[in-house]
Amino acid sequence: MSEYLMPQRPRRNRKSAAIRSAISETQVSVNNLLFPLFVLDGQNKKEEITSMPGIYRFSEELILAEIEACLKLGVNMFALFPAVDDSLKDKTATYSYARDNFYCRIIRNVKARFPEAMILTDVAMDPYSSDGHDGLVRDGKILNDETLPILGNMALAQAEAGADIIGPSDMMDGRVGYIRNVLDENGFTDVSIMSYTAKYASGFYGPFRDALSSAPKFGDKKTYQMDYANVKEALLEAELDEDEGADFLMVKPALAYLDVIKSLADASHLPIAAYQVSGEYAMIKAAAEKGWLNEEKIVEETLTAIKRAGASIILTYFARQFAERRAR
Ligand code: PBG
Repeated sequence: MSEYLMPQRPRRNRKSAAIRSAISETQVSVNNLLFPLFVLDGQNKKEEITSMPGIYRFSEELILAEIEACLKLGVNMFALFPAVDDSLKDKTATYSYARDNFYCRIIRNVKARFPEAMILTDVAMDPYSSDGHDGLVRDGKILNDETLPILGNMALAQAEAGADIIGPSDMMDGRVGYIRNVLDENGFTDVSIMSYTAKYASGFYGPFRDALSSAPKFGDKKTYQMDYANVKEALLEAELDEDEGADFLMVKPALAYLDVIKSLADASHLPIAAYQVSGEYAMIKAAAEKGWLNEEKIVEETLTAIKRAGASIILTYFARQFAERRAR
C-alpha cells in the first residue's frame, strides 16, 4: 500500500481556490488603510523622498490632488506630517501652534474641499524643534510635564483647523489625558485621539526622519520611546491611554511587533491601529528594486499579517498602490 491512512489531511482544505477563499480568515480591505502623507509649504512642490521611492512631500495644491485621487480609490483616511523649514524651528516648537502655519492651513483647505476625508494630525515637537526631539529639551534632558502645554496647544490649533483625529506620537506621560482636557474645554468633544500607545525606539524610522529632516540633534529617543524588548510596558501604556480618553490605540512599528498588536487587541475593547513605518516601506521597496522580492506579494502578505494580529486600522505608505490594485 502506498498511501497512509490518516483521518485528518489538512491539505484537503487547501485543494482549490474556491475552498481556500471560502475559509480564509483575514481580508484586508481598502477601508482598513490610513495613508500617511508628507506636506510642505510653497507652491507646486513635489519632492521625492530618497529613501522612500514613490513617496513625496507635496505642497498644498498637490496634496489636494493626491487626496482627491485616493478618495476615488476608496482610501478615506490620511495622516499628515509637516516638513518644516529649519529656519522655523526653535527650542519650544513655536511654529507648531502658530494658527497660521502652513500645516493648519493645509488641514483647513483639505477639510473644506473634502469633508469626508478623515484627517489624522501629528502631535509631537520633533518636526518643529531645533533639538529634533519630541519633547522640550533642557540640559540634555527631555522634559515631560513642561512639554504637555505645547502638545495641548498644538492639538488645539489642529482641532481648530478641522482635524478629525489627533495623533500624539511623542510618548510623553499623561499627554493623552492632557490633550483630551484641552479639546473638551474648548468644545472639541467630537475630535478623536489616536494615541501612539506602544511606540518603540526603533531603527525603522530612519527614512521618515530623512523626509522631515527631524532626526535628533543629540542622543536618541530611548527615554521616551519604548524598549523593543518589552511587551508588559505596552499593556501598561494601553491601560493608561484608555483611562485618559484615547479612542484608538496604536502600535508602531508593525511587522516586528505583531505580538504587541495581538496583546493589545486581546487586552482592550478599543480598536487597534498599527503603523507600517517608513523603514518597513523602504526595506520592501529596496528588495523589490533589486528584484529579490515581489513587491505586490510582500505588501499583501505583510498587511494581512498585521490585520491577522488584530489591527483594524493600518497606517501604510502602500495604501494608494494597494487601493489601485483592488480597483483593477
Ligand atoms: C515622531 C514620529 C516618527 C514617526 C512618526 N512620528 C519618528 C520618530 O519617532 O523619530 C515615524 C513614522 C515612520 O517611520 O514612518 N514624532
